[in-house]
Amino acid sequence: MDKRLEGKVAVITGAASGIGAATAKTYVDHGARVVLGDIQDEAGEGMTATLGGAGHAIFRHCNVTEEADVEALVETAIAEFGQIDIIFNCAGIVGALGPMSTTPAEEWKLTIDIMINGVFYGMKHASRHMKEAGSGSIISMSSTAGVMGGLGPHAYAAAKHAVVGMTKNLAAEVGGFGVRVNCIAPAGMATPMVADVMTGDHQNLEETIATLAALSPLKGRAGLAQDVANAALWLASDESGYTSGLTLTVDAGATTGSTAEPPAFAEYAPMVREAGRKGVD
Ligand SMILES: NC(=O)c1ccc[n+]([C@@H]2O[C@H](COP(=O)([O-])OP(=O)(O)OC[C@H]3O[C@@H](n4cnc5c(N)ncnc54)[C@H](O)[C@@H]3O)[C@@H](O)[C@H]2O)c1
Repeated sequence: MDKRLEGKVAVITGAASGIGAATAKTYVDHGARVVLGDIQDEAGEGMTATLGGAGHAIFRHCNVTEEADVEALVETAIAEFGQIDIIFNCAGIVGALGPMSTTPAEEWKLTIDIMINGVFYGMKHASRHMKEAGSGSIISMSSTAGVMGGLGPHAYAAAKHAVVGMTKNLAAEVGGFGVRVNCIAPAGMATPMVADVMTGDHQNLEETIATLAALSPLKGRAGLAQDVANAALWLASDESGYTSGLTLTVDAGATTGSTAEPPAFAEYAPMVREAGRKGVD
């Protein structure tokens, strides 16, 4: 395993499950020390043991709707590991469902609170330290539902579009300080969140993978948490050193028009010319 994150310190929210957990492991495997935040304390604490204990990973309870929790998570990186080089604002939920006309305001607000305000707090407190240090990589979680319409519930889509905008705007502010800001937009990946939506059981990854593979533009290939962790690894590392403001899709081409069905015009036929004429003659 290459150690391209050797010497770096990363903060990850939503790190107790799915993509956040896969990214934490990937970062540690590549040499980083990580500070993990989540509201699932038992799973989060369990992660630190898996990742090699306190020298490599620290877990703190962190509800991203509480600015003080997110600030404390960032400060833990400084206090315990001496720096913060990377933040991955990954915590999220599916949130409010159904037509906008029946969406309860409280459900809308909580969805927005977790996935916009939570990202704002992470960006705010990490960028403060990174500007001072003159370097850093801020990564946040958007979605293909933040790039195209109709791919997710309304509040979710609104929040994920906001993450794209916040990413571009912060990139413009902090680029002059040597800090990079990017976000990731995955399609439906096989994680507990999607398993819950697709099968009613958040642990049923097997059936989720089979369903996603059948729908995938890439033959037989479901998207996995590790695919997103790999994107987050690249954005965290110096290999992406000239990339900022990007929304990196991890979607097998879905947002560019690829589907599991063959596209129109995939077979050879004589070229179509002026009205009523075909072929080169
Ligand atoms: N799985 C996908 O298909 C997919 C696609 C696009 C984007 N995303 C985004 O990726 C992120 C991770 O999703 P996942 O699929 O790994 O889901 P997941 O449910 O496996 O993990 C989400 C984690 O966020 C935590 N969390 C929820 N609310 C929180 C809060 N208020 N404070 C702190 N932590 C909180 C959960 O406890 C959980 O550990 C989310 O932002 C999600 O919207 C997922």
